[in-house]
Amino acid sequence: MTKPDYTDKIISLAKRRGFVFQSSEIYGGLNGCYDYGPLGVELLNNVKNIWWKDMTYREDIEGIDTSILMHPRVWEASGHVENFTDPMVDCKECKARFRADILDELECGNKAYKGRKAIKCQQEGKFTEARNFNLMFKSFIGPVEDSSAVVYLRPETAQGIYVNFQNVRETSRQKIPFGIAQSGKAFRNEINTKNFLYRTREFEQMEMQYFINPPEDNKWFEYWKEERINWFLKYGLKKEKIRIYTHEKLAHYAKAAIDIEYEFPFGWGEIEGIHNRTDFDLKRHSEYSGKKIEYFDDLTNERYIPYVIETSAGASRSFLAFLTNAYEEEEVTRENLDGSKAMEKRTVLHFHPSLAPIKAAVFPLVNRDGMPEIAHIIANDLRKNFRVFYDDSGAVGRRYRRQDECGTPFCVTVDSDTLKDGTVTIRDRDSLEQIRINKDRISDYLITKINI
Ligand code: GAP
Repeated sequence: MTKPDYTDKIISLAKRRGFVFQSSEIYGGLNGCYDYGPLGVELLNNVKNIWWKDMTYREDIEGIDTSILMHPRVWEASGHVENFTDPMVDCKECKARFRADILDELECGNKAYKGRKAIKCQQEGKFTEARNFNLMFKSFIGPVEDSSAVVYLRPETAQGIYVNFQNVRETSRQKIPFGIAQSGKAFRNEINTKNFLYRTREFEQMEMQYFINPPEDNKWFEYWKEERINWFLKYGLKKEKIRIYTHEKLAHYAKAAIDIEYEFPFGWGEIEGIHNRTDFDLKRHSEYSGKKIEYFDDLTNERYIPYVIETSAGASRSFLAFLTNAYEEEEVTRENLDGSKAMEKRTVLHFHPSLAPIKAAVFPLVNRDGMPEIAHIIANDLRKNFRVFYDDSGAVGRRYRRQDECGTPFCVTVDSDTLKDGTVTIRDRDSLEQIRINKDRISDYLITKINI
C-alpha cells in the first residue's frame, strides 16, 4: 500500500517541534536556505555522526576537514568553472526564471495560472532560448573586488580531498586501496529550489573518495554501491522505498554513475551518488598545479595515477529521507489507569534509536511525594550518555504523544512503586510495551538498546 502524501504535515511538524525553520523567517525568509532547530540539529548531527563512524572507523579510510574557500584554480582544474551549469530560460510574460531541463517538474510563475506546469508555457512559446547558468556562488577574497581576487563557495566537498591526496597518503601511510572522507557545507546557486530540504542553495554533503588501482574500478564500484545501500537500510529506510538509477548521460568526470534514490512523497529523488571518477580529478590537479600526483606501489613496482570511486551523499537530503521515512499516523490502543483500553490516534516518528534527537524522556507521574526529585536524578544521570528530555506537565498519555512526535524511543516514568522498590517503567515508542526495571539499570538498558 502506498503511503499517503504527508509532505505538508511533515513540514508543519518540522516547524512545530523545532526540527527545521525557514532561514531569516522574521524577514520573510530566504529562498532555498533553512535553519535546523533544537531537534533538527540533533538529527542532522546524528546523521553525520553515524556516517562518520561507519565510514572512517575502519582501517582503510581517513577523515579530513578542508576549507570551504579554495584557490580559484581548483575549480578551473575540476571543470566546474566551465561545466558546472544548468540550462536556464526566462518567461517573457511573467519574468520568472526556470531550469530548462526540469520544466515538467516546475510550476509556472504566473499566479493567474496556479498549478500549471512550466513545460506548458514553453510549448506556448513564452520562454527565451536556454542559456547556461553557472551554479557556483562567487565572491572576492580581501578588500579589492577584481578578477584576481575571485573565490567560490565550494559546490562539492570532494575537491578538498583530491588536492590533499598526497598529504593524507604520506601522513597516514595508507596504501592503495584507501579512502578519504569529509562532510561539510556545499553551496549551489540553484535556479529553482524545490521540495523543502530536497534542493536548497546551502546544504551539507558526506563524501568519501576511494583511491584504487585502475583495473579494479568495477569491483570497487560494485562494493561501494552495496555498502551504501546497506547503510541506508541499516538505519531504517524501507527497502521498497529505495532504488538504483543508472546514469547513461554522465558528468564530465565520470565513467560510471548510479544514484541511490528514495521515494519521497513528491516522487523518487537522489539521496546519494556513486561515481567512478577515473583519474580525472587527480590528473587535472596535477596538470593545473604543476605538482606530480601519483602513487608508487612498492610491492609491484607500479607507478600510476589512482582511479577514484566516490560515494557522495547529501546530509540534508538524508535528513529529509530519514524524517519522511519515520513519519507515521497510527491508531494505537491506550491503556487507562483503571486498566480499561481505548483506541487513540497518534503521530509518531519511528527513527532508528541512533538517529533519534532525544534518546529518552523522563517523567514523574505526579509532581509530589518525592517523584520529581527522583526523576531529576535519573534524567541528570542519563544525560552523561545521551540527550534526555524532562517533562512534568500534563497527563502521562499526553507526554507520551509529545515524545512520539519527536521520535523519542524510550520514556521513563517514576511512579509510586519507584518510592517503594526503586523500579521505574520504560515505555518503548514502537511496540508500546512497558517494562519495569530498577532505576540503577536504566542507563545500561538504554545503552544496549540505542547501540551507542
Ligand atoms: N561530488 C559529487 C557530487 O557533488 P552530486 O550528485 O552533484 O555529486 C551529491 O551531489 C549529493 O549531494 C546528492 O546526492 C544530494 O544528496 C546532495 N545535493 C546535491 N545538490 C543538492 C542541493 N541543491 N540541495 C541539497 N542536497 C544536494
